[in-house]
Amino acid sequence: MGYQEVYESWQRDPEAFWMEAAENIDWDEKPSKALFDDNAPLYEWFRDGKVNTCWNAVDRHVEAGHGARAAIIHDSPVTGTKHKISYAQLRSRVARLAGALRAKGVQKGDRVIIYMPMVPEALEAMLACARLGAIHSVVFGGFAAHELAVRIDDAKPKAIIAASCGVEPGRVVHYKPLLDGAIEQAAHKPDFCVIFQREEEVAKLEEGRDHDWHAFQFGVTPAECVPVEGTHPAYILYTSGTTGAPKGVVRPTAGHLVALNWTMKNIYNVDPGDVFWAASDVGWVVGHSYICYAPLINGNTTVVFEGKPVGTPDAGTFWRVISEHNVRSFFTAPTAFRAIKREDPEAKELRKYDISCLRALYLAGERADPDTINWAAEKMGVPVYDHWWQTETGWTIVGNPAGIEALPVKVGSPTVPMPGYDVQILDDAGNELGPNELGAIAIKLPLPPGTLPTLWNAEDRFRKSYLNTFPGYYETGDAGMKDEDGYLWIMARTDDVINVAGHRLSTGGMEEVLAAHPDVAECAVVGVTDELKGQMPVGFLCLTKGVNRPHEDIVKECVTMMRDQIGPVAAFKLAVVVDRLPKTRSGKILRGIMVKIADGSDYKMPATIDDPAILDEIRQALQKIGYAAG
Ligand code: COA
Ligand code: AMP
Repeated sequence: MGYQEVYESWQRDPEAFWMEAAENIDWDEKPSKALFDDNAPLYEWFRDGKVNTCWNAVDRHVEAGHGARAAIIHDSPVTGTKHKISYAQLRSRVARLAGALRAKGVQKGDRVIIYMPMVPEALEAMLACARLGAIHSVVFGGFAAHELAVRIDDAKPKAIIAASCGVEPGRVVHYKPLLDGAIEQAAHKPDFCVIFQREEEVAKLEEGRDHDWHAFQFGVTPAECVPVEGTHPAYILYTSGTTGAPKGVVRPTAGHLVALNWTMKNIYNVDPGDVFWAASDVGWVVGHSYICYAPLINGNTTVVFEGKPVGTPDAGTFWRVISEHNVRSFFTAPTAFRAIKREDPEAKELRKYDISCLRALYLAGERADPDTINWAAEKMGVPVYDHWWQTETGWTIVGNPAGIEALPVKVGSPTVPMPGYDVQILDDAGNELGPNELGAIAIKLPLPPGTLPTLWNAEDRFRKSYLNTFPGYYETGDAGMKDEDGYLWIMARTDDVINVAGHRLSTGGMEEVLAAHPDVAECAVVGVTDELKGQMPVGFLCLTKGVNRPHEDIVKECVTMMRDQIGPVAAFKLAVVVDRLPKTRSGKILRGIMVKIADGSDYKMPATIDDPAILDEIRQALQKIGYAAG
């Protein structure tokens, strides 16, 4: 069957399509049906099934005789180490860790926060939670104490599992003081913490609260897998929205298993036993779905890479990892390739390695610019597939289903909707638009299995953020169009979310930080175009009347505040002081125009602008920091 037939078979009978996909999962109790729509527009999948994620990701492969197969390859150029963990080893490590957590009182439904770098222990911690039916929430290591505290207060974890440190090129990231600071700031206190001590930095443990990862597992009874209901949350993953309060995306257990398992062959075109590599971080959705869960559920070997595309030690690292570990399909963010291309435009490093094992490169997380796609395709000699999805969906909305049929690539388009997704372009009034008409991208409800059923403890926000604007549809927050062949073109976000080096950030959240500076009366943060990172945040500061301190000092303090409050991942380095912000007569800040001025692109003067002269002031301020050329 080709793509069209598969997509139509889903359209004809979604229930049969997903029940058939569910056959590839081991159930403790089979679900009687796939979709439960009695609470529409909130939908549930496989509600009356019973299943365990860890069983499907680990134990079942050992039971099937594949215990000796490598489950995880840890390749860490930043620490100069490499090692493999087989499925059998992974099972005993995860069962022991789960047993130790259980002995300390962690059970089904309890939340556990995981704050760890790219080490196999991060995956083991996730799987140990899944084994018990505990709900994990992984927090990216590039977030600072305050962001961690916000997540602790929202998820209210019984336990936190952290590493003593992370290793960034040139510096050790001191996780433990960040963790201590976060617990101090948070109103909710976990019962206990488990600290994985790394050789690069051993952290001081707090008596009574902190336990050493190894010592705490001594002598425990390994835990068996606990079957959970199909709708039981597998995890909560916080992502940026319009405000500083992150949204806790809930991932339902059974839909997650069924959908991810389906993607491995049909989208990523790998068979059990093949090596699959997603160069991202466990703190992001790509890391959840494609470093941890999907490859393991499908019986692949997953590469856990602790390094960067350049500088660890050079722009040949990706080629080395692909060649050395026999990677079949490779997934990363376009930024990573822009970094390699900038450092080694001729791809001279590639000549040192044989990457003929590789079948395709998959890009996602941000817009893939044609230059980058063409460069990668030409240098690597494999197809490059862009695909579009979000933390909320957990897997591809629009992609190229290479395992079903590799569709012709149109550079700049992530290709076509996957089965499960009826993607429509809507105008402001919610009418479906025709080919090549630009509008809001929405997905007709229900969303497929594995996608978010709600936000953690925030159903109203879920409805408001995604369901209310276009009744009957899920609002993606992206704008774009469909062409006459049904290919999607993703143009821009419709909200205040920006994408910096493939990392999703909220300008609203950054504005909240700046507004807290005592000298800042009003502010705006916009994402301007950046050659390497796609977008970079730039802050505009209007100072409180009477403040006459040097502007450079205030800007420096704002940069420091952002690093301390949100974290280095915000990459907030640029801010300018201006007298006023451009606004509409009703007081709405014209952020879109500010981006266009910064990028040097054309814009139409909005009829509603309060005072057009402000735009010149904005241009001049931006020119001082190297933007708004031309
Ligand atoms: N823990 C602590 N700090 C982290 C971190 C982590 N896990 N990840 C990034 N940071 C820090 C970086 O060290 C950097 O700090 P600095 O300001 O002191 O230099 C800062 O956060 C910004 O990081 P980043 O935006 O990633 O920039 P970079 O210059 O370090 O690296 C790239 C640029 C392109 C090499 C890098 O962004 C990259 O590899 N991107 C791939 C994208 C990706 O994996 N996206 C995930 C979604 S698919
Ligand atoms: P995240 O939730 O971090 O995965 O970010 C999701 C957002 O990143 C999407 O809503 C898009 O704005 C953007 N994005 C992800 N993949 C792509 C892509 N292939 N092309 C364009 N934008 C993308």
